[in-house]
Amino acid sequence: VIETVLVGATGRMGRSMLALLAEFPELTLVGAVASERSAALGRDSGELAGAGINGVPISHQLPPLLSRAQLVIDFSQAAAAAGHLAACVAARTPLLLGTTGLPRELGAPLAAAGERIPLLVAANTSLGVNLLLELVRTAATALPGFDVEIAETHHRHKVDAPSGTALALGRAAAEARGTTLEAHGVVRQAGQPGERRREEIGFAVMRGGDVAGEHNVRFLGAGESVELIHRASDRRIFARGALAAGRWLAGQAPGRYDMGSFIKSISVL
Ligand SMILES: NC(=O)c1ccc[n+]([C@@H]2O[C@H](COP(=O)([O-])OP(=O)(O)OC[C@H]3O[C@@H](n4cnc5c(N)ncnc54)[C@H](OP(=O)(O)O)[C@@H]3O)[C@@H](O)[C@H]2O)c1
Repeated sequence: VIETVLVGATGRMGRSMLALLAEFPELTLVGAVASERSAALGRDSGELAGAGINGVPISHQLPPLLSRAQLVIDFSQAAAAAGHLAACVAARTPLLLGTTGLPRELGAPLAAAGERIPLLVAANTSLGVNLLLELVRTAATALPGFDVEIAETHHRHKVDAPSGTALALGRAAAEARGTTLEAHGVVRQAGQPGERRREEIGFAVMRGGDVAGEHNVRFLGAGESVELIHRASDRRIFARGALAAGRWLAGQAPGRYDMGSFIKSISVL
């Protein structure tokens, strides 16, 4: 049994994780945290998530919950991350930090924390996307002469392009080739851009409908090509991946981990 505290429990990710806890019998919820201004303070966290009463009320203080916790999973707010990190280090509690937009100043505290607790920071906790990242690294290395082109499709409401995941895939390919996206990433556009340069990593973007996210990484060679595709049909993939990675993290030695470390631990890559 891994006694677990969820931080950001009233949010989209928090409620999604609360609802999925039933799939993870090893994880026992012992705390559910929101901000001190939360409208849900004192309410039953399971009921709030539509998962049935679980007896764990929403509270706003993490430290008192840590005396009996073996895992903290935090999907809350970037500005609160430093405080949550310090509390976990003080209590020696493993932390999976899924909050995005972390401030640059958190770099040193995160590095120091990684010496004292198992710490996994991940901007994307989908198992499939993280496996795809590993596969892209492998393919980019194994197929050095092949052109890399990345296509992504998302719902019509997405405002940024290419997606953060597409850029992460491009970065993985670039790193495996000993280069950077800044040097060789290209978003394909109309006009006369001229012939493709060998090292280019090209991006194509489509928007429409309610597509949760599709990423297609193509390796195009002479006479053959390889395609790696990930399709997200449900945003719960992030919550499920976080719970799976958290369960693994709780059993690790202190250190700095990422989703790739977890994926490698369960696969033969
Ligand atoms: N890693 C991934 O794969 C992934 C996937 C999706 C989202 N995210 C990231 O996860 C974070 C949360 O996303 P979301 O969509 O769930 O956001 P959200 O719906 O806005 O929820 C934010 C949660 O954080 C809580 N919170 C805010 N300030 C807090 C504080 N000072 N201390 C403790 N809790 C606090 C909120 O509680 P109250 O408002 O009730 O106080 C709420 O429970 C974002 O950074 C998002 O980008 C990451």
